[in-house]
Amino acid sequence: MSQKKIFLVLIAISTVSFLLHHGGHLNLTLETFWMGCPSTTVSVNQGSSGHSGKHTSVAFLKTHKTASSTVQNILFRFAERNNLTVALPITSCDHQFCYPRPFSVHFVHPHTSPPDIITSHLRFSRTELRHLMPNNTIYITILREPGAMFESLFSYYNQYCLSFKRVPNGSLETFLDEPWNYYRPDEKDSMYARNTLTFDLGGDKDRPFTELYVKRFAAEMEKVFSLVMIAEYFDESLVLLRRLLAWDLDDVLYVSLNMRTADSKSSLSSDNTEKIRDWNAIDSALYDHFNASLWRQLRALGLACVEREVQLLRQSRDRLVRSCFGGSLPPLRSAAQITNKELRPWQPSAKVTIVGYDLPVNISKKGPIPPRDECLKMIMPEVQYTKLLLRSESVRYRKRLPIRSRQQTARSVGQPRVHKESSSQSLVP
Ligand SMILES: *[C@@H]1O[C@H](CO)[C@@H](O)[C@H](O)[C@H]1NC(C)=O
Ligand SMILES: *[C@@H]1O[C@H](CO)[C@@H](O)[C@H](O)[C@H]1NC(C)=O
Ligand SMILES: *[C@@H]1O[C@H](CO)[C@@H](O)[C@H](O)[C@H]1NC(C)=O
Ligand SMILES: *[C@@H]1O[C@H](CO)[C@@H](O)[C@H](O)[C@H]1NC(C)=O
Ligand SMILES: *[C@@H]1O[C@H](CO)[C@@H](O)[C@H](O)[C@H]1NC(C)=O
Ligand SMILES: *[C@@H]1O[C@H](CO)[C@@H](O)[C@H](O)[C@H]1NC(C)=O
Repeated sequence: MSQKKIFLVLIAISTVSFLLHHGGHLNLTLETFWMGCPSTTVSVNQGSSGHSGKHTSVAFLKTHKTASSTVQNILFRFAERNNLTVALPITSCDHQFCYPRPFSVHFVHPHTSPPDIITSHLRFSRTELRHLMPNNTIYITILREPGAMFESLFSYYNQYCLSFKRVPNGSLETFLDEPWNYYRPDEKDSMYARNTLTFDLGGDKDRPFTELYVKRFAAEMEKVFSLVMIAEYFDESLVLLRRLLAWDLDDVLYVSLNMRTADSKSSLSSDNTEKIRDWNAIDSALYDHFNASLWRQLRALGLACVEREVQLLRQSRDRLVRSCFGGSLPPLRSAAQITNKELRPWQPSAKVTIVGYDLPVNISKKGPIPPRDECLKMIMPEVQYTKLLLRSESVRYRKRLPIRSRQQTARSVGQPRVHKESSSQSLVP
């Protein structure tokens, strides 16, 4: 009998200890079970760190005009909540890593190195990123349907990119009829005018299209990127992202950022979409390839499960928006109308209006109520958020390091990384 008792006591102890140690993970499992999803294949040890089992080393290749600002904002907020270091550009690089030059570790501000996360615009270089990032880093990126994307680029960079500026009357149709009349491959900013995704990914935007090049390029990408998100299926992509990183639903809530007003957009005829696809043939083939692979992954997870999680995500976001802004999102405003300078989005030209949010100031009897930090950050445009992060990371850097070792760190920027000082870092075996 006493043996049986001991056995029961042992069971009780191990159950309690299991619950204590795996509470977070168990919760995830229960949650997914409840949603009817297959148990996640994310293992707690592989490539994750910290007690929560959330993965914290992420490199997001931020592509142009693809809803990537929204992903960046999600990553910025996650980093802040978890005291992670985000690699940020040196001031002379502006808020991008000296794009369109290929990325170099020398573009990284020494106060933001060694980083956990990198997410600002850069032209992809695998070797340089490998030198900078922890070796258990998960790489992700995002692509957008080429027709919509090119229309967006054409409008956004209309006054910026000469290939677009020299088109009479700023007409997209005119450009598409004879692109070579306006496009100069070697000119400044020409990467906005042809195969922009390929260029951002480090490829050759002007290479004559061949199936072979695309096949090889896609295979290379698959080796590097664990997830290629698709802007048209943004929430579905987030479901995959959340699982890949073993993050909570609350970690991927967002509101859309860096959009144009409706009257800055024009709808495309199918004829023009075809012309855009021809002109951006490499991008188009990559898009088709990775859209297909996204849907394969979603189907593998179960479309019903994905759909339920998407609904859950939207409900949580609505709750957050209600608690932040009361009722619905603050109305979209053009930059000029936004009174809070911290919230004014950057405007590429007078011809296109990028909208942002202005916080409604809630005046109570005791005076204005300041918005919660969490709410403010969710609608903060990239340029301001980048500055703010650099300030806070610099403060932390100065607190952390005595002057001598600070100089050493500054000198060692550009060297391959040796180790992570953060104890929460567990490297892949
Ligand atoms: C489990 O998840 C729910 C909702 O996602 C959350 O409210 C709760 O606090 C979590 N419990 C634990 C133990 O993490
Ligand atoms: C982040 O750092 C602050 C201040 O050092 C600390 O109070 C907080 O608990 C930390 N948060 C996490 C998630 O580590
Ligand atoms: C540009 O606009 C002008 C006047 O608005 C018009 O006369 C001309 O035909 C247009 N050119 C093209 C190429 O559409
Ligand atoms: C993406 O792939 C899905 C599944 O194959 C397809 O139904 C959908 O039309 C594709 N989307 C685009 C924008 O090409
Ligand atoms: C503003 O005040 C109203 C009424 O007191 C409240 O319902 C709403 O949630 C508040 N909004 C914000 C953004 O605090
Ligand atoms: C990761 O980097 C560390 C330190 O450079 C090294 O010791 C370890 O073997 C690396 N792990 C892998 C999987 O490459």
